[in-house]
Amino acid sequence: MNALYFCVFADYHRFSGYPIGVDGLVQIMDDAAAHGVQFVIHLGDLCHDANYYSDFLSIYNENKYNIPVFHCIGNHELEGSTPLAQVRQKYGMPANYYYEDFNGYRLIVLDTNYYINEYGKTVHMPPGHSTPTGTYHLGEKQLAWLEETIRASENPCLIFSHASLELPQGCRDALAVRQMIRTINEEHPGRVLMCLNGHYHRNNIAAHDGVVFFDVNAVYNGYWQNTPHKGFPEEYANSARLASNVCVHKDPLHAFVRVTPQGEVDIEGMETTYLYDVSPESLGANSANSFGRKSEPRISSYHQDAVWNV
Ligand SMILES: [Fe+2]
Repeated sequence: MNALYFCVFADYHRFSGYPIGVDGLVQIMDDAAAHGVQFVIHLGDLCHDANYYSDFLSIYNENKYNIPVFHCIGNHELEGSTPLAQVRQKYGMPANYYYEDFNGYRLIVLDTNYYINEYGKTVHMPPGHSTPTGTYHLGEKQLAWLEETIRASENPCLIFSHASLELPQGCRDALAVRQMIRTINEEHPGRVLMCLNGHYHRNNIAAHDGVVFFDVNAVYNGYWQNTPHKGFPEEYANSARLASNVCVHKDPLHAFVRVTPQGEVDIEGMETTYLYDVSPESLGANSANSFGRKSEPRISSYHQDAVWNV
């Protein structure tokens, strides 16, 4: 069977609060076309209010290269005023979590925006306020759907989500998913090949039990701090409300992934620098997140040899 070859990016954060335009998305789509990918997928937080960014979204959804594109919902899609149903409509998603069999692979896209409310009920994050404490669950219903979707697949599966399925500090159901994948792969070697996530604006690639977990760095926004820094020239700092809360990647980070049914994986990352050389280091900041991962303006490249004898 042919390899799957695609472009992935995460956390573009098109939003009036950031000085981030549309050029990065144009560059990513141009590069994806030049690489001859089979599809492009983003891992959430593409824009904060899908209702307001139609021109931006059309660069992706109606791209001039006719490359198939996929969406995954992040938390910021829902923090503005756009309800889930409208985000789905603007993005052209069949559901908030869904799968598609594509070129001999099953692409499974999850929604990690469920949280357990004060009554112990699993509910989806409502629009219009910031992310409630305890968000980033899949919830029992989606977990059951995920297991059924993987088990029923005749194709090897890739799982895409906004929050991480690698560690329990990420999606709160990460360990349950890891156990599920391990059990299914023991019964059906190579049924699940990779898990890819965004959200943390960090760069990390790790393999567990032959499955590659790819934590995809943000396109532009690197290290965030609550107190604005003074590193940017005045004009740039004044160009958007949250401009100086961030260290910004100079070039739009994205990656190319090639994967085979045997679990051979090649990730072609990219490296850039920080805009105006404002880095966590120059600010004297410790950028380690709860995973212990520091901000860096790159996506690593990676190779894994074939794992599964299929
Ligand atoms: Fe996020």
